[in-house]
Amino acid sequence: MSSSIRLLLNTLLFSVVAAATTYDYVIVGGGATGLSLAVLLSEDSSKRVAVGDQLTATLSGSGSELIVHHPRGGSEVRTSDRFLFLSPIVNNYGSTSSGIGNPNITNLRLNSNNFGTANDWQFVTVPQVDVGNRPQAQVQGKVLGGGSAINSGMYLRGNKEEYDALETLGATGWNWDSMFSAVKKSEHFHPPSQTEVDALGLTDTPAFHGFAGPISVAIQAVNVSRFFPEFAVPTLKNLGHKMNTDPNGGFHNGPSWDFLTILPDSNTRSYAVSGYYLPVINRTNLHVMTESQGTKIIWAEKTQDGLITATGVEYIVFNESGNAKNVILSGSALNTPKILELSGVGDPTVLASVGIDLLVNLPGVGANLCNQPITTASYLLKNGTVDAGNAIRSAIIDVQPFSGYLSAADLQRSEELLQTKPELLSDAQFKIMKEQIEAGVPQMEFAWNVAADGNNVTTLTFDRLILVKPLSRGTVHINSTDPLVPPVIDPKYLSAPHDKFAFAKAVQYTRTIVNAEPLKSIIVGPVLPDATVQTDDDFVNYVNTKSVSEHHFVGSSAMVPRAEGGVVDPSLVVYGTSNVRVADLSIIASLPGIHTVSLAYMVAERAAEIINAGQ
Ligand SMILES: Cc1cc2nc3c(=O)[nH]c(=O)nc-3n(C[C@H](O)[C@H](O)[C@H](O)COP(=O)(O)OP(=O)(O)OC[C@H]3O[C@@H](n4cnc5c(N)ncnc54)[C@H](O)[C@@H]3O)c2cc1C
Ligand SMILES: *[C@@H]1O[C@H](CO)[C@@H](O)[C@H](O)[C@H]1NC(C)=O
Ligand SMILES: *[C@@H]1O[C@H](CO)[C@@H](O)[C@H](O)[C@H]1NC(C)=O
Ligand SMILES: *[C@@H]1O[C@H](CO)[C@@H](O)[C@H](O)[C@H]1NC(C)=O
Ligand SMILES: *[C@@H]1O[C@H](CO)[C@@H](O)[C@H](O)[C@H]1NC(C)=O
Ligand SMILES: *[C@@H]1O[C@H](CO)[C@@H](O)[C@H](O)[C@H]1NC(C)=O
Ligand SMILES: *[C@@H]1O[C@H](CO)[C@@H](O)[C@H](O)[C@H]1NC(C)=O
Ligand SMILES: *[C@@H]1O[C@H](CO)[C@@H](O)[C@H](O)[C@H]1NC(C)=O
Repeated sequence: MSSSIRLLLNTLLFSVVAAATTYDYVIVGGGATGLSLAVLLSEDSSKRVAVGDQLTATLSGSGSELIVHHPRGGSEVRTSDRFLFLSPIVNNYGSTSSGIGNPNITNLRLNSNNFGTANDWQFVTVPQVDVGNRPQAQVQGKVLGGGSAINSGMYLRGNKEEYDALETLGATGWNWDSMFSAVKKSEHFHPPSQTEVDALGLTDTPAFHGFAGPISVAIQAVNVSRFFPEFAVPTLKNLGHKMNTDPNGGFHNGPSWDFLTILPDSNTRSYAVSGYYLPVINRTNLHVMTESQGTKIIWAEKTQDGLITATGVEYIVFNESGNAKNVILSGSALNTPKILELSGVGDPTVLASVGIDLLVNLPGVGANLCNQPITTASYLLKNGTVDAGNAIRSAIIDVQPFSGYLSAADLQRSEELLQTKPELLSDAQFKIMKEQIEAGVPQMEFAWNVAADGNNVTTLTFDRLILVKPLSRGTVHINSTDPLVPPVIDPKYLSAPHDKFAFAKAVQYTRTIVNAEPLKSIIVGPVLPDATVQTDDDFVNYVNTKSVSEHHFVGSSAMVPRAEGGVVDPSLVVYGTSNVRVADLSIIASLPGIHTVSLAYMVAERAAEIINAGQ
């Protein structure tokens, strides 16, 4: 079915009168950042009890009245002077799926059940020329909560200098101090119990945590194999990798026990929906609409001070025209550039290629796209030496600077390769990233897991080998004016020669790990890559043929000066506009070496502070 027919069908199915209600904020995208921000922005209004069905109601009305038409009949009138409108696209039009209560979402063990389903945008990159010319599948949350609803739940924060770097790059006010204080507001940390402390030797630093926020964070301590305290920790110590007992305070170097966004000692996911939204689902000034894909911004005819002003947002099933005082784009680093480009904001060449009139010349839209490459390695363990346990994720996450795994000769080679700036990386970012490498900021993640098959044959699996701070940069752009056509995603993985070198060397380093005692005494041999993979070239070939996409995209609407390819200013306002903001991970110019959901909550909390302060 062609998309124009689908559009027409949706219009017929939802014969909705365009609302004339005024919203202070119309947020496009109810993901990790957008939904959390919506809840924070709606905090200061009077609360009324509302009727259910909010998620599937359609709107009409005029003035300060909002008429809510319930899909199963009936309507009601609500009044308020401060409405928020939030629009996460939830797949099948006409369904009521918000994901709320779906065990595939609420049970963290089941997260991969969502991959390739309607809860996933199911993106695919263009062939990655530096990674064997393979296209790579790209799972992205397409459900209320976005990535936070379907992610693996691992929780990491980076090093102080990685956040301070954002300010150096031009994001005034976005530094470790402000972002650490913001992220602690989102966090409800559950310290491990005494039994867990005794069993695994866990500790935590209370000053590194928030205890009153909506998102539960806990150390994974139940069902962890004895392999970890008895073999992994002593082996890491012998390699010079000392345990970091609490990596959440601005120094995350070294191995640490895995922190998860989870209710303690359970399999229950904590995410933007359960943490931020469900406790306030009855707020009458917050309207969450699923099944509403925002396509473009509706602009006022006139410009003021040379800036253009948004008055609403156009959707596939209906138009919210002339009713938005502020528009906030929160569609994620892969979706937000598309909305800007469809709205006439972006690179003139990209817009001209699809015949869209240029309203704001911003070549940074969809540029500077950054994501991490990931691969795995595994080793067979001697029968009967360890149990596999039943942990939800890898029990130990070891993040290392290059000096933590490269030999002296390799460090020399690294320095040589760092003489040349990768083509699409900005001068400012290249300089800062080299400083971070020098300063020993972690560049590579080694996640340690144990797996067993039906016969109790156990393997040590480095199930996440992630180059966490790649130098390669790519692009995400539209190539069609049809909002239902996915964006063209080209992360250019491993295009920076240093990335390929450092990544392949990390896989090779797992051979050094299993050669250290006490691990060595229980290793049978390599499974993947197998024993035929030996030389530097073999390992390069292995990452070329086996590495895939992580899910940690940032940078495609960067918060840097306009003259340096920036898209938003430090108040999140899109350059050239008076009232359009971006609040999602596309604003992060340079990726801290982490898994990114902590950053999304950080951006939401910081955005609310800035917007509420009227900046
Ligand atoms: C499979 C997977 C595993 C991950 N594992 C981890 C992990 O273990 N730990 C970790 O820290 N991070 C993890 N992440 C990353 C983390 O979840 C994301 O970085 C984070 O969710 C990004 O937040 P965001 O607000 O930028 O975008 P998202 O959370 O993706 O939210 C964007 C929302 O906007 C909606 N949307 C997009 N376009 C439109 C439109 N045009 N109109 C209306 N709505 C729209 C989307 O459907 C989505 O709901 C994972 C992500 C994935 C996908
Ligand atoms: C959970 O995921 C599985 C696998 O994709 C699917 O078959 C099942 O229908 C899903 N359950 C729900 C409630 O969506
Ligand atoms: C621990 O494992 C048991 C049995 O294998 C399982 O029932 C339980 O849900 C697990 N608990 C957690 C928190 O992983
Ligand atoms: C929302 O309102 C419904 C109906 O009154 C009520 O059953 C429910 O408990 C309320 N939820 C919250 C979180 O207040
Ligand atoms: C929304 O507005 C656009 C014009 O801006 C129009 O082409 C489209 O048909 C409208 N859609 C609906 C559902 O009213
Ligand atoms: C381990 O045991 C399984 C069966 O339980 C057997 O198939 C396998 O060969 C054994 N492996 C080794 C390395 O001894
Ligand atoms: C595997 O180990 C578990 C726990 O030690 C035991 O209950 C089970 O019977 C074993 N399975 C096989 C196939 O040996
Ligand atoms: C847009 O890109 C996709 C690949 O992502 C391709 O299949 C499609 O043909 C392209 N369309 C146009 C109009 O270039």
